[in-house]
Order: sequence, then C-alpha cells, then structure tokens
Amino acid sequence: MTQDPTPNHLTTLESHIRSEESRHPGATGAFSWILAAMTLAAKIIAGKIRRARIDDVLGPVGSSNVSGDEQQKLDVIANETLIRTLGDRAGVAILASEENEQPIILQTKEDQPYCVLFDPLDGSANLDVCVSVGTIFSILRHDSTADSVEESLLQPGTAQVAAGYILYGSSCVFVLTTGHGVNLFVLDPSVGAFLLVERNLRLPESGKSYSINEAYRLQFPAAYVNYLDEAHGQGYSSRYIGTMVADIHRILLTGGVFIYPPTKEYPHGKLRLMYEANPMAMIVEQAGGKAFAGRRRILQIQPESLHQRTAVIMGSRDEVDRVLAHLDAQDTDSPAAAPP
Ligand code: AHG
Ligand code: MN
Ligand code: MN
Repeated sequence: MTQDPTPNHLTTLESHIRSEESRHPGATGAFSWILAAMTLAAKIIAGKIRRARIDDVLGPVGSSNVSGDEQQKLDVIANETLIRTLGDRAGVAILASEENEQPIILQTKEDQPYCVLFDPLDGSANLDVCVSVGTIFSILRHDSTADSVEESLLQPGTAQVAAGYILYGSSCVFVLTTGHGVNLFVLDPSVGAFLLVERNLRLPESGKSYSINEAYRLQFPAAYVNYLDEAHGQGYSSRYIGTMVADIHRILLTGGVFIYPPTKEYPHGKLRLMYEANPMAMIVEQAGGKAFAGRRRILQIQPESLHQRTAVIMGSRDEVDRVLAHLDAQDTDSPAAAPP
C-alpha cells in the first residue's frame, strides 16, 4: 500500500508513472514514454506561452481549423510541439488532434498499443489577454482489428486508459488519471520537473457555483434557464473564464458545475467529445464527480465522428444532479426558439 506523500517526499510525474507501471507485471514501459513526451511538450508549450508577446506569436493565423474555429498562432505551435514530442515514441500508433482534420498514423503494427488524442490549446482565444489556457489529452488502446483508422479511434470514453490536462495558469499544473483516481502535479520551473503535490484528488460533492456563458441564456433550452433561476434564488456565485480546462480545474478543487448547453449556434453543444469532453469527464468521474451531456453519461456516448461536438454538464455530484432534475422536468433539451 503506497503512503500519501508528505512534505518530505518529492516525486516527479515520470517517477510516479514508473512506480505505477512496476506494479503491472506485463507493462512494456510504453505508457511511461508517452507521458514523458507529454511532460516535455507541456514544458515547451508553457515556455512559448510565456514568451508569446515577446516573440510576436499572439493573434490569429488567418485560417480556421476543421471545426470552423479561428486558429491562433499558438494553436498551431502547440499542435506541432505535441506531434514532434509524441511522434517518435515507441508504443504510439495514432495521433489525433482537434487542429487536424485527419489522424496521423505513426505505426499500425499490433505491438504499438496506444493512440493519443489532444486539444493542443484549449481556450486559445484567451491568450492575447494573458488568461489561462490548457492542453487536454486522452489515451486509448490501439484497435488494430478495426476496418479504418477513424473507426479504431471511435471508442467511447469508458475505453480511455488515461486522460489528463496541463493548465498554463499562474502556475503550470498537470492533472492525470490512469483510471485509479486523479493526481495533481505542479511544474517547479527551477528544476524543470512536474512534482506530485496531491494524490487522489476528490471533487467536493457540492458547491454553490456555476460556470456557464450566461450571455447565451436566451438560446438555452428551458431546463437550463430554470436551473439558473433556481441558482440565482439560492445565492450561487458565477465564475466563467472561457477556457473550459481552467473552469473545470477550479471546480475540481472548489466544487460547482460547468455547463455548456446546446445553443442555436451549436445545437449539439460546442465542445468536442473526443478531445475535450471525454478526457475531462474521465478526470471528473475519477475525482468523484459526474459528467453528462443532457441526460446521457458522457463516457458512454458512442462517437460517430472524430470531431463531433457535445453538450456538457460536469462537476460536483449534487450540482450535476440539480441540473439533471431540471432536464427531467422538461420534455426537450433543444435550444430555445429565436427570441422575438
Ligand atoms: P478551443 O480554444 O480549444 O477552441 O476551446 C474553446 C472552448 C472552451 O475552452 C471554452 O469553454 C469555450 O470554448 C468558450 O466558448 P464561448 O466563448 O462560447 O463561451
Ligand atoms: Mn478546446
Ligand atoms: Mn483548442
């Protein structure tokens, strides 16, 4: 039985993973290599974000990605960094990025067991104003029996073997789950390593705080408006950074609920199932919270396409249940009709 870390014990993310792997007799070490690549990418991206204004790499590239979102220069730089760090790792068969229409096939041999999917920079529209952004990733087993590359990736979130995010905030944090709870690491820039600061993070069961872009209220299905009215009457506070990974990180530590409902512009929700919702849902559930898309558990959605979008309700168990109770009381969760 592993003891909780005390202030006397210092463990890096890499050594933590190695010690986890040593408990699995058949482990090949591939997983350690992937996470070492993720930590390297995280440190490179963190450095580039800090220097962005100086290096004149803020602002849009002038093109859109496959989802139609305007690409920022740093979206492209972060994407390239991840592809370069993960690209020659033993054990990685396929990479799939929010920024690339098609997955990148590295190996299709059966002994390349993993696929890595990522949102290179979440919240990139916040970069220009010096607000937190993040990198989100999801690791799946490579299904070498699938008919096509895309099909091999279209696995429900329950099939994820690991998920994590790096938040480039006032400090740089790495949050990771391998399906046995959630651990939190912080980058110590003086030694260039992510150090374990909290093992088995637990999400508070409740928290009177909601995170939603309330400016779209007139477009929300009635159930969400009813939930907001209830929250207003009960002294909730509202916090919305506009970077999902930062909003959910806050909820992970202090409780509450993050909601991105269907809207007129995004009738199926805005966030991407495979790159954003699934990995964050795995983390939230592993920390004891809940993650739904309307009335469906996010992790059980069978994906139909790589870039598909989804609505999101995730966070503290009691707060998610409160939103779901409003959904249960309504017949529909379609976006509201256009206001008069
Ligand atoms: P990305 O930068 O990867 O495209 O994601 C942006 C997402 C998410 O981070 C955030 O929660 C949401 O967009 C904000 O959308 P609104 O501006 O519509 O609130
Ligand atoms: Mn994103
Ligand atoms: Mn992004």
